[in-house]
Amino acid sequence: MMNFFQKETRTALEAKEEAQRIAFAPMLFQATRVLRDSGILQIVEDSREEGIGEKEVLEKVKLSEYGVRVLLEAGLGIGLLVFNNGKYRTTKTAYFILQDELTRVNMDFMHDVCYQGAFFLDKCIEKGKPEGLKVFGEWSTIYEGLSKLPPKVQESWFGFDHFYSDNAFPEALPVVFARKPKKLLDIGGNTGKWAAQCLKYNADVHVTLMDLPGQLDMAKTKLNALGYSDRVAFHTCDLLDERQPFAKGFDVIWMSQFLDCFSDEQIVSIISRCKDALNKDGRVFIMETFWDRQRFKSSAFSLQQTSLYFTTMANGNSQMYHSEVFGRCVTKAGFSVVNQVDLGISHTLLECKPL
Ligand SMILES: C[S@@+](CC[C@H](N)C(=O)[O-])C[C@H]1O[C@@H](n2cnc3c(N)ncnc32)[C@H](O)[C@@H]1O
Repeated sequence: MMNFFQKETRTALEAKEEAQRIAFAPMLFQATRVLRDSGILQIVEDSREEGIGEKEVLEKVKLSEYGVRVLLEAGLGIGLLVFNNGKYRTTKTAYFILQDELTRVNMDFMHDVCYQGAFFLDKCIEKGKPEGLKVFGEWSTIYEGLSKLPPKVQESWFGFDHFYSDNAFPEALPVVFARKPKKLLDIGGNTGKWAAQCLKYNADVHVTLMDLPGQLDMAKTKLNALGYSDRVAFHTCDLLDERQPFAKGFDVIWMSQFLDCFSDEQIVSIISRCKDALNKDGRVFIMETFWDRQRFKSSAFSLQQTSLYFTTMANGNSQMYHSEVFGRCVTKAGFSVVNQVDLGISHTLLECKPL
């Protein structure tokens, strides 16, 4: 795997320019979002090579002359627009802001879920608690409040979560089902998307979902509507409480984008508890996004910044892990990795066996 972070690549002038981008980052982000959501960016994009003047843009949007002017001018410095002979045209970056689903999902997640809470990052680091979460409610983790978040926040949270895991599920299915599991436990099953794919993929498999009550209610509604009620079970459990009973008797335990919701010690505790839940020769499959196992620097960057969502909003103590840090937790929990596959946009699937 590439180490993208080995050496300095900027000249002094570029570095100073980059420092200004960071200093103004909140404005840069919001201006880009407003240019996108107000339709201005699309209007300029639609003008193609010919370009469009400020007055013509103004005729097409319901904003003041002042508003349109400051947004268009900010768009130049940000690198979304170029300006020649009184006309604006879009850049390649604007194209990705407008058309790229990955960028849209990340931007909506940042704005709707993370933006306000990010203000409290220093307090979160100090206390090891998601102090930013208080902008939405008095919960100790976002997972307790997930089903009660405002609809737009919920939509962006699920959009982000599903975008990443949905892309990896089809590739993970043949790997998991190569072991012909009859009983599968999906820990952190969320809205039942993976469970639904398993039940469709294999007509014999029985899936149990283990999660917090709010999420299991959503999963139950969805899986029952799909007609899977006879092959699915629900086990409510707060995995942070080691005294709560764990479901038992599984050929495969599946955890996708789940263990990143926990600290190193909590990961060790959860994986350790999987041992008693497995049938003889059973396996634990863990699907995670490790920032050091990315093919592109921008993927590693996105994951490193996503860690700060966990710091400020989710729980204050987890992250998108480096694969070696995570691997040490697996070993400490009494498991060894017997197979490792990179798949989806940026995921790694670990097949683990008790030592
Ligand atoms: C990021 S989502 C992953 C969802 C899904 N597995 C996927 O791949 O898209 C994490 C899930 O873990 C659940 N979770 C978080 N903390 C939990 C806890 N303490 N006990 C049980 N489930 C928890 C959340 O409710 C949520 O459904």
